[in-house]
Amino acid sequence: MSAPFPLPQELYTPRLRLRRPTLDDVPVVYGYASDPVVTRYLSFRTHRDPSEAVGFVQRADAAWNAESGHRPWMIEERSSGEAVGAIGMDLDGCRANVGYVLRRASWRQGLVPEALAAVADLAFAFPAIWRLHAWHDVENPASGRVMEKVGMVREACLHRYAVLPNVGPEPRDVYMWARVRRG
Ligand SMILES: CC(C)(COP(=O)(O)OP(=O)(O)OC[C@H]1O[C@@H](n2cnc3c(N)ncnc32)[C@H](O)[C@@H]1OP(=O)(O)O)[C@@H](O)C(=O)NCCC(=O)NCCS
Repeated sequence: MSAPFPLPQELYTPRLRLRRPTLDDVPVVYGYASDPVVTRYLSFRTHRDPSEAVGFVQRADAAWNAESGHRPWMIEERSSGEAVGAIGMDLDGCRANVGYVLRRASWRQGLVPEALAAVADLAFAFPAIWRLHAWHDVENPASGRVMEKVGMVREACLHRYAVLPNVGPEPRDVYMWARVRRG
């Protein structure tokens, strides 16, 4: 198990509050996680039951309590106080891996790039972290655009890299993106 990386449970950007999930978020999480358009290129199966969203909060609690593993924040709009998605980060050795999801009604307002920029700053505040990366399915370019907006660079196409259960049983080609600290 890697050394713990303590992360703040709350972060603010101009439009957003990022905060640790709670069980009160289950309806919101189930809302986007049960939308097949939202989940198509995600690595978990589209939710069929709210208990799966409870599982998300429980896994988040375990990671936050251990200060290790994939720690998600809910993405909350400061104007309305409404949670609209989630973003998470996993710090391991010299690397940070990120993932994000937004409910469909909130797409195309630049919310995830705003959240990701704050999370990236957080990652590089650790002297041990030299690389922030993430991948997306070749048919999900909107995710690549998010990464481009925060200064990540497309490095490679990784063939047959991951099975995306909502697309099909065969491993998919993905693009790997990264932002690195230059020595
Ligand atoms: C991908 C996602 C995170 C983008 O978040 P967002 O806050 O809407 O991001 P932006 O508003 O900056 O939009 C990013 C780009 O995506 C494209 N895009 C966003 N929504 C789109 C849509 N409905 N149709 C077509 N293109 C779209 C646009 O090209 C946009 O770039 P632009 O601002 O230069 O026009 C969001 O659409 C989402 O949650 N998708 C489902 C989950 C997912 O795929 N997560 C990533 C897995 S790797």
